[in-house]
Amino acid sequence: MAQHSLIFICMLISLAAMMQGTQAVEYVVTDNTGNSGGGVRYRDEISDDYSLQTMSDATEFIWDIFEQDNAADRKDVPKVTLIIENGVGVAFTRRNLNEIHVNANYLGNYTAGDVTDEFTGVLYHEMTHVWQWFGNDQAPSGLIEGIADFVRLRAEYIPSHWVQPGQGNRWDQGYDVTARFLDYCDGLRDGFVAELNKLMRTGYSADFFVQLLGKTVDQLWSDYKAKYGN
Ligand SMILES: *[C@@H]1O[C@H](CO)[C@@H](O)[C@H](O)[C@H]1NC(C)=O
Repeated sequence: MAQHSLIFICMLISLAAMMQGTQAVEYVVTDNTGNSGGGVRYRDEISDDYSLQTMSDATEFIWDIFEQDNAADRKDVPKVTLIIENGVGVAFTRRNLNEIHVNANYLGNYTAGDVTDEFTGVLYHEMTHVWQWFGNDQAPSGLIEGIADFVRLRAEYIPSHWVQPGQGNRWDQGYDVTARFLDYCDGLRDGFVAELNKLMRTGYSADFFVQLLGKTVDQLWSDYKAKYGN
């Protein structure tokens, strides 16, 4: 009897945990590349199945990095669409639509490393734009891009063209430069980027750095440069 109720309680607990942790997100891939070289390479070396799996894996990884254990902590995004197209540049995300666009011509011409690794890194970056907070559009764009590349850095899809730690001219230069700086800040306080993202849910202030690390962002940047001898 006692044993039965214990089993029942355990079942209830795991059911509650499942419901809390589960947020149904639908992933869709649309391949608009036709017969382009990039489209052929995408289908041969990457594939829609891989894209769908990577979108789901990236989501779990991002929720973990952002320390968003419950659905209430996360953005309410029911569906993410990935469009593979013959475009320009590398990739971009239409935030209001939760729609990621990847340029197949870029993939078709990619020779700087493994194309699947590069595609995966790009998806982790773009998926971060789907899930991150934007500080009510007050945050510097360099910080937004830096957080997306910080996630890519932590996922260990680091492309060969990235700067090394300590390089760059400004903390909010964006992308790899800001990602490396955020990694330094996260080393000063474990979970710093998660805390910063949480604060950015409703707005942005440079004072967030002071609140979390006790120093201005400019002081942190000069400490960071000094650490690497710059
Ligand atoms: C390389 O890029 C060019 C220009 O975007 C494009 O026309 C060409 O199809 C690409 N090559 C491959 C193999 O995708």
